[in-house]
Parts: sequence; C-alpha cells; structure tokens
Amino acid sequence: MDDADASAKLGLASLMNLTQISVSLRVLFTGFLAVVGVGLLMAGLQLLLTHGMADGRLGLSVEDVVYSYHGDRGGSVLEAKLKGSMKDKAPTQVRADIVEWVQKGSSEAAWDASIQGQFNEHCVRCHGGIAGLPAFTSYAEVRPYAEIDEGATIDSLARVSHIHLFGIGFIFFFVSGIFSLSVGLPGWLKAGAIGVPFLFLVLDIGAWWLTKWSPGFAWVTILGGAGYQLTGAFMILTSLQQMWLKAPTDEDAWSR
Ligand code: HEC
Repeated sequence: MDDADASAKLGLASLMNLTQISVSLRVLFTGFLAVVGVGLLMAGLQLLLTHGMADGRLGLSVEDVVYSYHGDRGGSVLEAKLKGSMKDKAPTQVRADIVEWVQKGSSEAAWDASIQGQFNEHCVRCHGGIAGLPAFTSYAEVRPYAEIDEGATIDSLARVSHIHLFGIGFIFFFVSGIFSLSVGLPGWLKAGAIGVPFLFLVLDIGAWWLTKWSPGFAWVTILGGAGYQLTGAFMILTSLQQMWLKAPTDEDAWSR
C-alpha cells in the first residue's frame, strides 16, 4: 500500500485528531460534551420519575413501559393509579369504593350520590389545585380516566417520536463526530460506537409504537434506550480522556 492509499483510508482523524487539537477547540468540544452528558443523565432521571413510576414503584421496569405505551387494557387509568402512585392518597375503603364505581360503569348517578364527595375530600386538593395535573372537580373531568386505559395516544407518540429522532439524532451527530477524531482505537470499535446510537434510537422509537400495539415489545424500548445512553457515555468519556490526558498542552497547543 503506498502513501496515497494509506491517507485516503484515514478519514477526518488524519487531518485533525483529539490528541493534536488546540486548547480552544478542546474547550469547545468539552463544553458541548459536558452539557450533553448532563443532559443524558437528566433524561435518565426524568425517565425514572415519570415512566419509572408508572407502576407505582421507583425504577424502570418492563411493566412501566407497558403501562406507559400499551396501557393497562384490563382497567382504567384511575384504577391503575389508585393501585399505583395514588395508593397513599386515600384510605383502602375509599379506593375500593372508587374502583368498584369504575368497574360498574362509572355512572353519573353514583358520582353525584357519593363518589364526588370522596374525590373532594381526598383528591381535589391536588387535582384541581395544582397546574399540570388533571382536575377532578366534575364528572366530565373524571370520566375519561375511568375508561379503559389504552396507553399513549397515536397523536402523542407521533409528537414525541419526531422530537426524539430530530433532537437525539442531532446530538449524536456531534458527539459521534467529535469521537470520530479519536485515535488508537480498533476500527471496528470506533465505527461500532458511532453507528450503534443511531441504530438504537430507531429501535427505541420503533419499539414505542410496537409496545402500543403489543406489550411484548416493551423490553426492546429499554434495550434501545440503555444502548444509546451507554454508547454515548463511552464516546464522551473517551473523547474527554484523549483531549485532556493524551494531548500535550504545550505552548503550541495554546497558540494554534
Ligand atoms: C398530594 C397530591 C395528590 C393527591 C392528594 C392526589 N393526587 Fe393523583 N396525582 C398527583 C400527581 C403529582 C400525579 C402525577 C404523577 C403520577 O402520575 O403519579 C397524579 C396523577 C394522578 C392520575 C394520573 C393522571 C394522568 O394524567 O394520567 C390519576 C388518575 C390520579 N392521580 C388520581 C388520583 C385520585 C383518584 C386521588 C384521590 C384519591 C388523587 N389522585 C390524589 C398528585 C396527587
């Protein structure tokens, strides 16, 4: 192989690599990677606190994903919540009364006669007072939550999917782009780490839709999400290590 062949195969890292770049570029890349790294952690935290709590227990499980996307087709959101995260909001008897009301078809007559009183006493101080929570002050407001829970709506899935694909695609273009300037890693590892987040992103989002349709796909969602979080962490840490621990910070690096 002559020199021309060799350099043609080197890619961008032959022109510029993480152990050679100037301090100002290192600061730019580090700032971006740090912000994205914290963003990934926050995304993980939010996932734990929202979807993670869907079954009423902290920690993301297959059941959480099923609850969120497929719903609990055996019952309503109201029942699921009263057995889950709203369990401590009312005494057992009150919760049993509400569940019974739901299972008997959630009639307006029974609402007027007794159920509304229970809601007023135990639920309305949050559900009626706190912005962002559904208000439960009237029959019309409560009724939708007493219907069979079908999980995420197509509408909300479409919205969240495109935001995720654009947003995360964009972020990984730059994280992977910076990482592609690393040196000394086996070619398969480098190419693999760059490709995997895009693959897993598509897998993750595809799995939301599949889980909506059938709960059997919930684990693919977890695999996909964990996949791009882990690969992201690997690329961010490797890039930071090469920029700051492998690169000489001499006079030259400051002046470039
Ligand atoms: C201390 C405040 C508080 C009280 C009291 C409370 N809730 Fe909630 N509720 C919340 C919060 C916060 C959420 C959102 C987080 C969640 O889903 O766990 C929520 C969510 C819900 C949801 C899901 C809403 C959705 O958009 O899917 C239902 C249903 C619900 N609560 C029912 C009840 C019922 C019934 C009671 C009364 C027995 C009650 N809650 C009392 C704070 C409260």
